[in-house]
Amino acid sequence: MSLRPLNVGLIGGGAGAFIVHPHQRAIHFDGTRRVVAAALHPDPKVALAEAERWAYPIKGYASYDEMIADQAGKPIGERLDYVLIVTPNHVHFDPAMKCIAAGLPVFCEKPLTVTLDEADKLVAAVAEHKIPFGVAHTYLGHWTTRFARHIVRSGLIGDVRWVDAYYLQGWLADRAEDQGVLQAEWRVDPKRAGASCCGGDIGTHALMHLRYITGLEVQRLHADLETFVAGRQLDDHFTAYCELSNGGKALVRATQIAIGHKNNLGIEVNGTRGSLALEAETPEHVTIRLSGQPDRVYYRGAVSADDGFLKDLPEELMAEPTIPSGHPEAFHDAFARLHRCFEADVRAYQDKKPFDCDGSKYANIADGRMGIAFVAAAVKSAHNGGTWTAV
Ligand SMILES: NC(=O)c1ccc[n+]([C@@H]2O[C@H](COP(=O)([O-])OP(=O)(O)OC[C@H]3O[C@@H](n4cnc5c(N)ncnc54)[C@H](O)[C@@H]3O)[C@@H](O)[C@H]2O)c1
Repeated sequence: MSLRPLNVGLIGGGAGAFIVHPHQRAIHFDGTRRVVAAALHPDPKVALAEAERWAYPIKGYASYDEMIADQAGKPIGERLDYVLIVTPNHVHFDPAMKCIAAGLPVFCEKPLTVTLDEADKLVAAVAEHKIPFGVAHTYLGHWTTRFARHIVRSGLIGDVRWVDAYYLQGWLADRAEDQGVLQAEWRVDPKRAGASCCGGDIGTHALMHLRYITGLEVQRLHADLETFVAGRQLDDHFTAYCELSNGGKALVRATQIAIGHKNNLGIEVNGTRGSLALEAETPEHVTIRLSGQPDRVYYRGAVSADDGFLKDLPEELMAEPTIPSGHPEAFHDAFARLHRCFEADVRAYQDKKPFDCDGSKYANIADGRMGIAFVAAAVKSAHNGGTWTAV
């Protein structure tokens, strides 16, 4: 029997917004989820008008308060099954808290909040209500990121010594915020973005890649948050030198002023036996380099479980329902994989069955909080002249 499609409500996403669109495509990707409602804008009139103009019929709400309140008392099947929050950073905490209190699972954009205090409150609320909560660290949804996680965590490249995790962009190399670029305006404003622009916006993606693939935590760091474009209050260049929980070292670096770089997220993990490299702009392969051997390049969909190097590749990696190798997957597929995994947890939650939400399939609330703690430590270190600071 076909599954009832899950009903998703959007918070944010009207009037020229960006990230809502990859998300809404990913929600519809499998036919088992659909967007049915939205509070698209802070101005109630615009919110309703934007919902009217949406590409397919949805129920528009004047505000997210109204959308959340409208779910009260409705049985499962008639109410929203989960809510996607795609507003600027300062409008994550309030709607997320209200959804949790209303029993609505939340998939929230990153960075989770603008302060660590808010992140702590969300962690407590999720624990109290025992509800699925995902954080949209997109790149964890690539098959190759999961493959890399298996390789590193199963020890195939040895003990991790050194990690270079980076996210390089060039779109804020001049004052895009003065040229009517909606996405730039709020990102350089501390009230709406938080204490860091570059570190919070994309440094957290690099951090999440590092944590997800290696299973290691950043214990302490020393950081520089730099502003190359005059007149900005926040960093457009972020560098954190990190000590990892196994004693290894890492560089988590991000920049938004590297002209020519688009969304160059990548990671290189160096272990005692070999190294692994992965870049999100070419997300279909992972390169492994072992001492004294030719480089191995593994493509999604073209691996065997045991090939002399790979061992015991998990069934879920082999069986993942994807298109054949050579028909490229990319950004939207990664988002779809995250929503697909979140959907499974939402269905289990509704059936009162155990659900994972353990960070192995998508970033969870603890991961989201760790991103905020990392940025807070980096800001503190930079303010103190780059001193070693505990995360
Ligand atoms: N995961 C990723 O790869 C990724 C990529 C880009 C952005 N993001 C994150 O997504 C979020 C949104 O970023 P964006 O670039 O799409 O921003 P955007 O400025 O393009 O869109 C934000 C939307 O939120 C709406 N909004 C603001 N306040 C609201 C309110 N009170 N009620 C309802 N709607 C409201 C705006 O009107 C707009 O439609 C940010 O937190 C950002 O960090 C994540």
